Amino acid sequence: MKFDQPATRNPIDRLQVVGQPHDRIDGPLKTTGTAPYAYERHDVVANQAYGVIVGAAIAKGRVVGIDTVDARAAPGVIAVVTHQNAGKVGKAKAITAKLLAGPEIDHFHQAVAIVVADSFEQARAAAHLVRIDYQAAPGRFDLARGRESAVKPKTDEEPPDSAVGDFDGAFAQAAVKVEQTYTTPDQSHMAMEPFATIAAWQGDKLTLWTSSQMIDWARRDLSEILGIPRDMLHVISSFIGGGFGSKLWVRSDAVMAALASRAAGRPVKVALARPHIANNTTHRPATIQRIRIGAGRDGRITAISHESWSGDLPGGQPETAAMQTRLLYGGANRLTSHRLATLDLPEGNAMRAPGEAPGMMALEIAMDELAEALKMDPVDLRILNDVQSDPEKPGRAFSHRDLIGCLRTGAQRFGWDRRKATPAQVRDGRWLVGMGMASAFRGNLTMKSAARVAIDGRGKVTVYTDMTDIGTGSYTIIAQTAAEMLGVPLQQVEVRLGDSDFPVSAGSGGQWGGNSSTAGVFAACMKLRDAIARKAGLLPVDAQFADGRISAGTRSFTLAEVVGRNGLSAEDAIDFGDLAKTYAQATFGAHFAEVAVDAATGEVRVRRMSGVFAAGRILNPKTARSQVIGAMTMGLGAALMEEAVVDTRYGCFVNHDLAEYHVPVHADVPVQEVIFLDEVDDKSSPMKAKGVAELGLCGCAAAVANAVYNATGVRVRDYPITLDKII
Ligand code: MOS
Repeated sequence: MKFDQPATRNPIDRLQVVGQPHDRIDGPLKTTGTAPYAYERHDVVANQAYGVIVGAAIAKGRVVGIDTVDARAAPGVIAVVTHQNAGKVGKAKAITAKLLAGPEIDHFHQAVAIVVADSFEQARAAAHLVRIDYQAAPGRFDLARGRESAVKPKTDEEPPDSAVGDFDGAFAQAAVKVEQTYTTPDQSHMAMEPFATIAAWQGDKLTLWTSSQMIDWARRDLSEILGIPRDMLHVISSFIGGGFGSKLWVRSDAVMAALASRAAGRPVKVALARPHIANNTTHRPATIQRIRIGAGRDGRITAISHESWSGDLPGGQPETAAMQTRLLYGGANRLTSHRLATLDLPEGNAMRAPGEAPGMMALEIAMDELAEALKMDPVDLRILNDVQSDPEKPGRAFSHRDLIGCLRTGAQRFGWDRRKATPAQVRDGRWLVGMGMASAFRGNLTMKSAARVAIDGRGKVTVYTDMTDIGTGSYTIIAQTAAEMLGVPLQQVEVRLGDSDFPVSAGSGGQWGGNSSTAGVFAACMKLRDAIARKAGLLPVDAQFADGRISAGTRSFTLAEVVGRNGLSAEDAIDFGDLAKTYAQATFGAHFAEVAVDAATGEVRVRRMSGVFAAGRILNPKTARSQVIGAMTMGLGAALMEEAVVDTRYGCFVNHDLAEYHVPVHADVPVQEVIFLDEVDDKSSPMKAKGVAELGLCGCAAAVANAVYNATGVRVRDYPITLDKII
């Protein structure tokens, strides 16, 4: 189905099931430990052996010798696979780092070997017996130094640079200016479920139970790496314990499990050990961001520039931290750029709202600094500089944009009028108390997504799509969509996800999954409705679906009696066409935070957080709210604690587990208020919804940073805001 907005007949608008705060269908499975994750699929194939990956002990250089004699002789060992005996291993175009190294080593902990044994303990013990000699070469590990030689990258979709008007001239003449540099650190996804795969060959056919956000990308990339046709690959990912972008592409667990299983002649299961993940897989790259904003005394922006530097392995991609600055605020003279330094750190890639998450961390402090320079309220400054169409592409309106509504509602609900504009004025015992705010902004990507919907002779509906549920609620909102479209109770819908035998969906990434995948189910349901109507002898346009029945005029049948014993099924995909070119698509919000800073130690405690979001129709307020609470918690973490620390001597992240890489725990997280503005966006999708998950993260850290400034008068521009930077 081509989406031609506004959809003329749209049963979704009934909102009997969609829009309701249903509990997650998979909730009981998750909370009773009975949702099987990839590593736990003990039952799916017999005779599983265990693989343990050996990671490179240097960051850059060559393997000059491999001795596996002792490892092979160790108890229970079945096979040891390295680049010397793995056969031909290709590189996937979409993945920067090779997933089996050798003889060249591109980054620390890159997989160099896998040891397969009867038990996990035997494999782990034997992995220590693999002796690898390296010849280390000097590497580049420091972004601050690499910045000087950074180049203009080739970016996937949008060009790396943009320029409108005469930025330099307008900035020089601006009455009020901000010019600052901000840094964000490398960050690690730290999903609870590690990367894990069970691989099993049947002849030339390979089945993988793995933890993947994108089933079809996994199939595509594995096909390129292993050199086998796509249709010989079966990828299954039914439950996923968090991905945060790290599982958008297959990693070494999947590739090494496949190679190991072929060598061992047995199914092999592999999980990356927690301390391997930070360096073996991917991370969010650190950024240096220079922002210059010029405004008139009235607060209107006349010149805005955002330049970002980040690093990656050769052939990699920049962190697109300046992209949102092309769309968020007005101003006639504009400049954005991205520069990419070659670094020999592990692969940098998507993590939790790539681009906007670190970009908004910088831009929204800069806006706070501009408001202060103007002696203007930060909320008013943002309202004044709102735009309703793309400021860099004339004539391209936003499909729907209510940033102002978010700012006003948030300010009112939060009690923003109680904020003291001058910093360090409010004291509560030993605590300095302050308030901060920031806009939220995240693009709304839409992706083609297919589904098959079947109804059987008892009226039971089953949805098949290779969409994944990474903890987000996909099972639930897809069931709600099918129930709404076919007029059946939610309990009568079964949702089958995460299997490459099912139609190819949008997958889970970039907050496109919820809207795109339900739109795909919508399309398939429209087709099924037509088929049912025709079979009932009714005109599809007249047919109503409610209470398990199809009715038109005076005629009414149960779905079960119409479809008969063999049932009916229909498959279709949503195709969004040129929608994103016609309309600027984005989601909006406003973050407010109150913090207390210990006057003696600089310890920061967030006391309250409040977020208001405008992201189209909210398909399920409960799952959406959970997503945003999680995202705001990540924003708190990004503001105050998350940092993958680089050892620039050895080229690795040193804090590689949850003991040393800090994320917020319950005691760090205050009561969070989440409000969704009641809106629909009929130019975004037939669901009239948009993405919502990552929006809650974007801007959140800056609201905390601005609150820390308001509390203390200390402006920290280098994240995370640890106490040493305050006192
Ligand atoms: Mo998201 S970082 O695109 O999974």
